[in-house]
Amino acid sequence: MRITIVGAGYVGLVSGACFADFGHHVTCVDKDATKIDALRNGDIPIFEPRLDDLVAKNSKADRLKFTTELKESVADADIVFIAVGTPSRRGDGHADLSYVYDAAGEIADAIEGFTVVATKSTVPVGTGDEVERIIRERNPKADFVVASNPEFLREGAAIEDFKHPDRIVVGIEDERARSPMSELYRPIYLNKGPLVFTSRRTAELIKYASNSFLAMKITFINEMADLSEAVGADVQDVARVIGLDKRIGSKFLNSGPGFGGSCFPKDTTALVKTANDYERPLSLIETTIAVNDRRKRAMARKVIDAVGGNVRGKRIAMLGLTFKPNTDDMRDAPSLAIAQALKDGGATISAYDPEGMEQARAELPFLDFCHDAYAAAENAEALVIVTEWDQFRALDFTRLKQVMAQPILVDLRNIYRKSEIEPYGFKYRCVGRPH
Ligand code: UGA
Repeated sequence: MRITIVGAGYVGLVSGACFADFGHHVTCVDKDATKIDALRNGDIPIFEPRLDDLVAKNSKADRLKFTTELKESVADADIVFIAVGTPSRRGDGHADLSYVYDAAGEIADAIEGFTVVATKSTVPVGTGDEVERIIRERNPKADFVVASNPEFLREGAAIEDFKHPDRIVVGIEDERARSPMSELYRPIYLNKGPLVFTSRRTAELIKYASNSFLAMKITFINEMADLSEAVGADVQDVARVIGLDKRIGSKFLNSGPGFGGSCFPKDTTALVKTANDYERPLSLIETTIAVNDRRKRAMARKVIDAVGGNVRGKRIAMLGLTFKPNTDDMRDAPSLAIAQALKDGGATISAYDPEGMEQARAELPFLDFCHDAYAAAENAEALVIVTEWDQFRALDFTRLKQVMAQPILVDLRNIYRKSEIEPYGFKYRCVGRPH
């Protein structure tokens, strides 16, 4: 099949490379000529494991192309995906749909022959209706249908998630979309059969409901962690055992410094806005957002308590700045609020992150950026693990103790145990566990 993807950002690029790898002919279109030039040369603008190999392999096989010219690629396509950004709109928290609607207008002018236009961007309920209206108004002769095909991939595991999804959802209002969308995903669902057709508005809501539920699940276990600390229980055991109940499930029950990233904070906020517009407030999600926001600064309090109640004039070392491992993404990362709160308390902060330093420099210019964990730890009164990168799982504590001003480890991701750390002479603090 011939696929065109408008928007070569995270979702567009990963989807394009994976569709091409299934044998489809894919063109990724983006207005950013520098980005397209880089992609043509095999330079990937984001950090995502294995994406560079996948892009190189499929570009070489002539199945994956990059262009700034939307018109030609849309005219040829069986399916055109809209995968442009939908950031939070400044001021009101609604998703900003201007890029989606601009793309719809340009697609309208370029359509030739029957075309499925599918939204992959995360878009509020009703966006598909508006995309359809825009295209029809701009080009009344266009032969097209609009589908909603939200994406559920996680940064850092995007290729695996795309190729082995728990489910694929396609929302349609016109039966003519069913066959091309089934053919497109045939290489995936042949093995597992997770392709579900729903109405278009249902598919749009499913995306927000999924992310909001997961955000709520994380927030639930984070509150259980606080309670565990107060009553002397172990939140990891609580999570493990409640997770054995298949109705609850074991995933997304790791307590930590709160959820961040480019999706959960933005999508929970946008869903709350939609619900308010329809006068059906979602108090569970509103509370989730509020609890999560408070949590990030509360983590700084934990650090301050660990060093005796005051960080003024003290050096604190932060390990991991990105919102999670295996990405260079700093959007809404808990490290932002934690670093700011420590700075407000008078601390000097050194930091190291394996991939996110460049992005972090823009957001947190007051940090001292170091080339590794040991350099960051020099003269620090406490070492704080904020993001659970694999390379922080086997730190050399003898070496750390030699360089630190005080041997204190605050493990906000629970990747160590007290019994492992204390023999090195370290004081150990974690989240929701006595050990
Ligand atoms: C999330 C969803 O997991 C994807 O299914 C979805 O497609 C994506 O948003 C999106 O809408 O595009 P992502 O934001 O990449 O993916 O990252 P997650 O792995 O979900 O992590 C989000 C945040 O939750 C991170 O800050 C992470 O540290 C935190 N988290 C996750 C926890 O604190 N505990 C957990 O048990 C799991």
